[in-house]
Amino acid sequence: MTTSSRRYHITTFGCQMNKADSERMAGILEDMGFEWSEDPNQADLILYNTCTIRDNAEHKVYSYLGRQAKRKHEQPDLTIVVSGCVAQQEGEALLRRVPELDLVMGPQHTNRLQDLLQQVFDGNQVVATEPVHIMEDITKPRRDSTVTAWVNVIYGCNERCTYCVVPNVRGVEQSRTPEAIRAEIEEIGRLGYKEVTLLGQNIDAYGRDLPGVTPEGRHLHTLTDLLYYVHDVPGIERIRFATSHPRYFTERLIKACAELPKVCEHFHIPFQSGDNEVLKRMSRGYTHEKYRRIIDTIRRYMPDASISADAIVGFPGETEQQFENTLKLVDDIGFDLLNTAAYSPRPGTPAAIWDEQLSEEIKSDRLQQLNHLVGIKAAERSQRYMGRTEEVLVEDQNTKDKTQVMGRIRGNRLTFFTGDINKLKGKLVQVKITEVRAFSLTGEEIPVLVC
Ligand code: SAH
Ligand code: SF4
Ligand code: F3S
Repeated sequence: MTTSSRRYHITTFGCQMNKADSERMAGILEDMGFEWSEDPNQADLILYNTCTIRDNAEHKVYSYLGRQAKRKHEQPDLTIVVSGCVAQQEGEALLRRVPELDLVMGPQHTNRLQDLLQQVFDGNQVVATEPVHIMEDITKPRRDSTVTAWVNVIYGCNERCTYCVVPNVRGVEQSRTPEAIRAEIEEIGRLGYKEVTLLGQNIDAYGRDLPGVTPEGRHLHTLTDLLYYVHDVPGIERIRFATSHPRYFTERLIKACAELPKVCEHFHIPFQSGDNEVLKRMSRGYTHEKYRRIIDTIRRYMPDASISADAIVGFPGETEQQFENTLKLVDDIGFDLLNTAAYSPRPGTPAAIWDEQLSEEIKSDRLQQLNHLVGIKAAERSQRYMGRTEEVLVEDQNTKDKTQVMGRIRGNRLTFFTGDINKLKGKLVQVKITEVRAFSLTGEEIPVLVC
C-alpha cells in the first residue's frame, strides 16, 4: 500500500514522556510519507497516545475514540491507533471495547510503529503490549519546538508506589547509554536547538541498570556523571531534567548542578505527602524530614533555585491531621509550582482495593485547600523576581498578545515581553522583570550595549 499524501493526526495525553513519544511517532510517520493534518477529521490515520495516571485521564480517551470509531464506518480505510499507557493497561480488552481499532501498542513499542503499521496495512488487527527491550531509534522525531527538545534518558520505573500504574504500564527501568544520549544531544545542537530536557520517570535513578561500578562501589553511570558527560555539547545553552525522586537525589548531584553553568536552577521533585505515615503507606521510601533536607541542601548550594513538585491529597486513610502535614510542608518550603491531584484508585494497584477510601467530597475539599495555599506561596515566590534581570530563552509568540514573545527564565517561570518573534526566536535575552504573577512574569528587554 502506498502511503504518500496520506495524512495523520496525533492527540497526546499525559506526561512529558508521552509527549516525547508522540514526537518520535510523528517522525516515523513522516518518514513513511504521512503528512500532518491539523484537523483530526481530515486525517487518514488517527493516533491517540494515552494516559491512565488518573481515572479522568483514561475516560477522556474513550470519548474521543467513540467519535473516530463512528467515522470509520463511513471511511473504512481510516486507520485508528491507540498507543501509550491505556493501550498497555487494556491491551486486547481495548479491541473488544472498540473493535474498529487497528493497532493497540504500549509505550515500549513506540520505536516499532512502522513495523506494526505494516502489519496493519497487510490486513491485521495488531496488539503490541509485551515487554520488550527498547531499541535505539534511528528515525528523527518531529519535534513541536525548534528551540527546546526532550531527550529520553531512562524509560520505565522500578518503584512500587502503592497508588501508581506507571510501573505496570511503562515496565522496568531501561537506561539509554551515555553515548546514545550524547549523540542525540549533539544532533539537537547541530539542528539549532538551545535547550534540552532530559527525561525519565525517576531520572535520578539513571544508570542503575547499566553495567559497571566505581572503586567506591557506586554505579559507574549516574545522572551526575551524565550531566558532566553531555555538558559541553556545542550549541546547547541550557540543560534541564525531570522528574526526580527524593530517594535518589544526592548531594553529589546537587553539587554538579551548582557547578555546571548550563544546568538550570530548577528542580522538579515530587513529595506526594508531607506525612510520614502516609509516605510509608505509599511506599515512597523517604520521610518528610529527608525531603526537607534535600531542599535545604539545594538552597544551600543554589539559594535562588526554583522548586516544583507533585502532591496527592485524599490517599486512602489520610486523616485531617495527615493532610495538614502536607499543607505544612507546602507552607514551609514555598514551592514555585506544585502539581496537585486528588487520589484516584487505579486498576492493578494495591491502594485501590484498600478499605479506607475517602469520599469525593473530602478529596475535592482538600484539593481546593491545597491549591489555594499553592497559589499564595507561588505568588510570594514570584516576588523575588520583581525588578531583577533574568535570562529568557525565547520560544514563541505570546498567543494572547502578538506584540509579545514568551519564553522561560532559568528558574522555569514563563515570561512575556514586547518583541518580534522573527528576530528573537531561540535567542537568550536579558529581561528586566516589571510585573509578577504567581506562575508567570512580564518584563522588558534590556538592550545589549555595544561598546
Ligand atoms: N515518577 C514520578 C511521578 C510520575 S506520575 C514520581 O515518582 O514522583 C506523575 C504524578 O501523578 C505523581 O507524581 C503523582 O502525584 C500523580 N499520581 C500518580 N498516581 C496517582 C493516583 N493514583 N492518583 C492521583 N495522582 C496520582
Ligand atoms: Fe509511579 Fe512511584 Fe514510579 Fe513515580 S516512582 S512513576 S509515582 S511508581
Ligand atoms: Fe500518564 Fe503514562 Fe505518563 S500513565 S503520566 S502518560 S507515564
